[in-house]
Amino acid sequence: MLCIPRIKLPLSLMEIFIFLLNIFKKKSQKNSTAIISEFETSFANRYNYPPALIVSRARIAFYFLLKNMDIKSGGEVLISAIHIADFVNMIHLAGFKPVAVDLKIGTYNIDYEDLERKINKNTVLLLVTHLSGFATDMDRIVEITRRNNIPFIEDCSQAVNTFYKGKRLGTFGKAGIFSLSLLKSVCTLMGGMIITTDLKLLDKLRSNIDQNVSSPSKIPLIMEAVKNIIIITAVTQPIFTLIVFPLLRLNMYREDFFARYQRTNKTVELRRLIPENMMVHYTWQQAVMGLSQLRSLQGREEIRIKNGQYLFDNIISDDKISVPAVVEGSDNTFWLFPIIADNPDRLKRFLLKNGIDSSKFLLVVLSEVNEFSVFSFKCTSGESIKAHTLFIPAHIGVTKKNLDHIIQVLKKYQASLTINT
Ligand SMILES: Cc1ncc(COP(=O)(O)O)c(C=O)c1O
Repeated sequence: MLCIPRIKLPLSLMEIFIFLLNIFKKKSQKNSTAIISEFETSFANRYNYPPALIVSRARIAFYFLLKNMDIKSGGEVLISAIHIADFVNMIHLAGFKPVAVDLKIGTYNIDYEDLERKINKNTVLLLVTHLSGFATDMDRIVEITRRNNIPFIEDCSQAVNTFYKGKRLGTFGKAGIFSLSLLKSVCTLMGGMIITTDLKLLDKLRSNIDQNVSSPSKIPLIMEAVKNIIIITAVTQPIFTLIVFPLLRLNMYREDFFARYQRTNKTVELRRLIPENMMVHYTWQQAVMGLSQLRSLQGREEIRIKNGQYLFDNIISDDKISVPAVVEGSDNTFWLFPIIADNPDRLKRFLLKNGIDSSKFLLVVLSEVNEFSVFSFKCTSGESIKAHTLFIPAHIGVTKKNLDHIIQVLKKYQASLTINT
């Protein structure tokens, strides 16, 4: 039987090759702006919003929002406990104090009670992050932030197609941001999209960004394209079953080399400056890729959501494994499919022995980052959620037969532990 890889990338080899051909082509300023604008408009159309704004990365989108939202400098910015570490740097470098809000055990959502506890007269903004396609309870977020008169932004990088009570995530707060990096539903190698209905804010952002970013070097984009090609090849059959999977099995007691290669943010530091290679323009070549990704988005999402829902409906929770709770009224998109396991390493090895690859969290828990000890983050539930999460395959490359196999193997795992105890 063919082994099941942990991921399948949203980009196709054809999209990457077109990008690599385009990257050496020149276009006039007018023509390249027109392509980027078309992508920004098409992306925003999904939300019935005015044209969006694309920058080099989501963290840069967040930085410019912080700088242009007219919020009191020096104030406290609340951020979800599990995130990309550099978001903390962006808060700090934009002149604010980062404060981490813990997650709620058994869920992928922030802990609303901890949120209330962390809000005080110095709080100026909340960044709420929807993890793995699981929506946050937006009624509660809207109620809490309104009552306290605090604006909020949604990070929808992992929840591009998720709805809450019929409304798309990203449209509840002042703005929505989306990363378009590796594995994201709309991937353009790198990129960060901002959507908002505030036209004045959009204007301000555009001129502030234009003044502060420069032309990008082609090298990092080409390197990212090559990385995508390598990962696509590694998870393609029969290469995956014959070469990659046996190596993963052989290494199962050591570091997960696949995760290490996949991880974009390999080191964390408390930054003094935003790196120059991030303060760069988004390119028209990426926008071409983005337009192509938007065309295939709905079809890809539907397959993954169907796969995720099938697993969700058929995995029987017990004290060894469970699936995080889904907020009432939300449609989950299972960007990655998380299992909360009492012993994720043991489960990972059991899955490997049965032909199934899985992965752990690549995001960090902010309280675990030594470089951020000055901020005294405390996120004990976030730490536990990260430590107990294992992502199993539900991606667009997974067949119905694969899903049934995964469900059977999980049942076997549960039964083996019941017998042993
Ligand atoms: C929730 C979330 N936000 C942001 C990012 C990345 O942002 P950037 O585009 O700055 O790399 C990721 C990437 O994994 C993410 O998962």
